[in-house]
Amino acid sequence: MKKVLVTGGAGFIGSNFINHILKTRDDYFIVNLDKLTYAGNLENLKEVEDNPNYVFVKGDIINRELLDYLFDKYEINHVINFAAESHVDRSILGSEVFYRTNVVGTAVLLEASRNHNVDKFLQVSTDEVYGSLGATGLFTETTPLSPNSPYSSSKAGADMATLSFNHTYGLPVTITRCSNNYGPLQFPEKLIPLMIINALHNKKLPIYGDGMNVRDWIYVIDHNRAVELALENGGDGEVYNVGASQEMTNIEIVKLILQILGKSEDLIEYVKDRPGHDRRYAIDSSKIQNELGWKPEFRFEDAIVKTVEWYKGNRSWWEGIISGDYLKYYEKQYKKR
Ligand code: NAD
Ligand code: TYD
Repeated sequence: MKKVLVTGGAGFIGSNFINHILKTRDDYFIVNLDKLTYAGNLENLKEVEDNPNYVFVKGDIINRELLDYLFDKYEINHVINFAAESHVDRSILGSEVFYRTNVVGTAVLLEASRNHNVDKFLQVSTDEVYGSLGATGLFTETTPLSPNSPYSSSKAGADMATLSFNHTYGLPVTITRCSNNYGPLQFPEKLIPLMIINALHNKKLPIYGDGMNVRDWIYVIDHNRAVELALENGGDGEVYNVGASQEMTNIEIVKLILQILGKSEDLIEYVKDRPGHDRRYAIDSSKIQNELGWKPEFRFEDAIVKTVEWYKGNRSWWEGIISGDYLKYYEKQYKKR
């Protein structure tokens, strides 16, 4: 039995991971440790809350005492670290909590994992640690790290700490670096859910700069299958890039969402650019494809329709969010542009 401490499992990717694993595997026992920040939502985990192979614990990855207690109590032998502050725009408004959770929190979790001799520590990272590409080229695992935002620099710090624990102490770590995710349960501050929800309300869709920035989009289930494979078969001290080779400009995505919803392009509004805005991300995922046999299964043109349908069908999920503190954050952010 894998006894897995999943951190940040009430967020977008972590909750999709737990729901997927508990549906498909009976050899996983999952302890979900989540601080329930603005981005954590136990609604995301309704379908597993009574599963005997699942326990939720509210807490912070920086709390070493709590970690030691959980490792002992549940005999944890695997760790997947999804927990993070994850939004670039928020990191620009204030970076401290990003370095606290993403760097120091990861370091505390590494220390606890080392102390309890886990079989694998999987760090869920991002392609943003590589910085920005020009019009051509792809990120490979040997691309030098060159992060540009407080968010991406904090994730790069966490990656470096993770690799150092392998080099120094022999802790069996693996890192996945994935491109931009989309799908159900994504908090509506990120591009795709924000645009869907604004369009459903006939609110303006704010495009930063000229809208020609490129991201390489992957459906969340494809990412999570890569995490599962890397946890089980990933080499110690190895990094795997994860991406579905689906590059799109922001303006292409927004126009597609409007088309799916049958809304007018007049809703589009170009606003002041994000400071330090990375121009293009694109992933070479041949290593994980060749070494671990992973390949993406969802095409963007189909999965974006599924995603739009999910937000249309789950209004109560996001109405709760946008009527609370989030709206205050969003209005403040939007006014500044
Ligand atoms: P998210 O913001 O939706 O969820 C983060 C979760 O972590 C939340 O449930 C939050 O409550 C929890 N959390 C935050 N600080 C914590 C702390 N100190 N202790 C315990 N829990 C804490 O993020 P997401 O989009 O699901 O991303 C998950 C991971 O994947 C992150 O590490 C992120 O860097 C990485 N990632 C995200 C993307 C993407 O496109 N969203 C792409 C590549 C990698
Ligand atoms: P985002 O979802 O914040 O992810 P990241 O910054 O981690 O890539 O943004 C994706 C792209 O969309 C990025 O180029 C910024 C752009 N964007 C907008 O143009 N308008 C918006 O309101 C948001 C949130 C993002």
